[in-house]
Amino acid sequence: MTSHASPTPTSPSEADPARLPALRRATVSDLPALASLWAMAFPGERTVAERVAGLRDGGPWGGFEDCWLTESTLPGSGPRIDGAFRALPLTLHLFGRPLPTLGVAAVAVAPHARRQGLGSRLCRAALQIGRERGDLLAALYPFRTDFYARLGFALAGELHRYRFPPEALPLFPGTDRVSVLAEPLAVLPPLHAAFLPSSHGLVARSPKRWEALVEDAPMAVGIRAADGSGDWTGYLLASIRKLSRGRGLEFRVTEFLAADPDTYRAGLGWISAQRDAWRLVTLDALPGERLHQVLAHPQLPGSSTTRSLWFPSATVLRGPMIRILDAGGLLERLGADAGTRLSLDDPELPENRGTWQVDAEGSTPIRVSDLPASDALRVDLASGLLVEGQLPGLRLPRPGFEPPLGMADFRLLDPF
Ligand SMILES: CC(C)(COP(=O)(O)OP(=O)(O)OC[C@H]1O[C@@H](n2cnc3c(N)ncnc32)[C@H](O)[C@@H]1OP(=O)(O)O)[C@@H](O)C(=O)NCCC(=O)NCCS
Repeated sequence: MTSHASPTPTSPSEADPARLPALRRATVSDLPALASLWAMAFPGERTVAERVAGLRDGGPWGGFEDCWLTESTLPGSGPRIDGAFRALPLTLHLFGRPLPTLGVAAVAVAPHARRQGLGSRLCRAALQIGRERGDLLAALYPFRTDFYARLGFALAGELHRYRFPPEALPLFPGTDRVSVLAEPLAVLPPLHAAFLPSSHGLVARSPKRWEALVEDAPMAVGIRAADGSGDWTGYLLASIRKLSRGRGLEFRVTEFLAADPDTYRAGLGWISAQRDAWRLVTLDALPGERLHQVLAHPQLPGSSTTRSLWFPSATVLRGPMIRILDAGGLLERLGADAGTRLSLDDPELPENRGTWQVDAEGSTPIRVSDLPASDALRVDLASGLLVEGQLPGLRLPRPGFEPPLGMADFRLLDPF
C-alpha cells in the first residue's frame, strides 16, 4: 500500500506537547532514513532496501501507516530522525475474546540520542496512540524486561524448550491421519482462525503474515480428526536443519496447535515415527502440556545431574510482555463478574488509574474514584495477573472459555 499523505498531526503531541513535540506519523519520503535507523538498531535481520520495500508495499505487519518517528534539526543541516517505533493494530485473543491490542514494535533510538529518556518517551507516546484509537491491551517483546516493567508491562506466559531424540516419544496411534501439506496456505489460515475463539494469547494473522511464516518454517504438517470426518484439527509448523559434525538432522517445531488429545497424540506419534530419519527434535511446549510425562527420559541432551540427583529437563523461554491499556474497557469486554472492584495504580495513563467497579454482570464498569485505593494494584502487576487468569473479577476458569486440551496457558506465538 502506498500513500503520499503529508504528515498528520499526532494525537500524543496534541495531548501533551511537552512530552514529545516532534512526534509524527511516517510518510513515504521518510522510508530510507527510517529503514537505515532500523537496520542499525536491529542488525542482521533485513537490509535497508528490503526494509524500504516492505514498508512501502506492506509486509507481514502492514506498511508505514503505523510507523511513528521523532526528529530534530541540527544547526546548519537538515532534520534527522532521533527515534521511531511501530504501533501495530493487533487483534489478540484473551480467554477467547478478540481484543484490539497495540503491538509496540521496532522501538529504536538513534545512537546520538540514546540514554536521554527518548526511548521511554517513545513508548509512552505509543501507549497514548493505542489508548486513543481504542486499544484495550498493549503487547511487546522486550530487549530488557525492567525497562518495560517501569512502563507498566509484565512478562506473560512461558514455553518449555525440550530437546530429545524422536524415539523418546511413544509411537502414539494416528500417524496415518497426519500429512505433510503440499499447499499449507490453503489449510493453515482457516485452521488457525478456528483456534482463535478458544485461544488465550493468539493474534489474528493477515495473508502476508501467513506467507512469511510458511517461508520461515518450510515444513507444514496437518492432522485430521480421529472421528473420520476428514476435518483438520491440528497442525505443526517446523523446519529441518543439519546438526554440526554430521550428527544428522534436527526437526524444529515452531508451532503445534491441536484441538483435542487425539490430535495432540497423533502429532507426537508422527514425530516419533521419524526416528530413523531425524536425530533430534526441538519442541517448545506449554507448561500445561506436561511433555515431561510423555518423554521416555526428559533430560536435556548432553546435561548431567546438577542438584544432587536432579537433572535439567527443559529450558524455560520467556517472551512477550503485556500491559493493560484500558481497565474499564477490558473488564467490560471480558465480562467481569458482578461485584468486581479493581483499584489500579497507573503512573503512565491517568485514564486507567483509580477504582473500577462492575455492579452487574455485563454492565459498563464505573470508575468510582480516579485515585488508587491504598491496596491498589500496580498496572504491571495487574497485567501479569490478568494473563494468568488471577485478576479479581476475571479469574480462571472464565465462563464460556474452553481452551484446547483444557490448557489456559497464555501463548502468543507471533514475534513482532
Ligand atoms: C533500547 C533503546 C530504544 C533505548 O533507548 P534510550 O533512548 O536510550 O532509552 P532511555 O534513555 O529512555 O532509557 C535507557 C536508560 O537511560 C536512562 N536515562 C534516561 N535519561 C537519562 C539521562 N538524562 N542520563 C542518564 N541516563 C538516562 C534511563 O533511566 C534508562 O535507564 P535503565 O538502564 O535503568 O533502564 C535504544 O538503546 C535502542 O534503540 N537500541 C537498539 C534497538 C533496540 O534494542 N530496541 C528495543 C526493542 S524492544
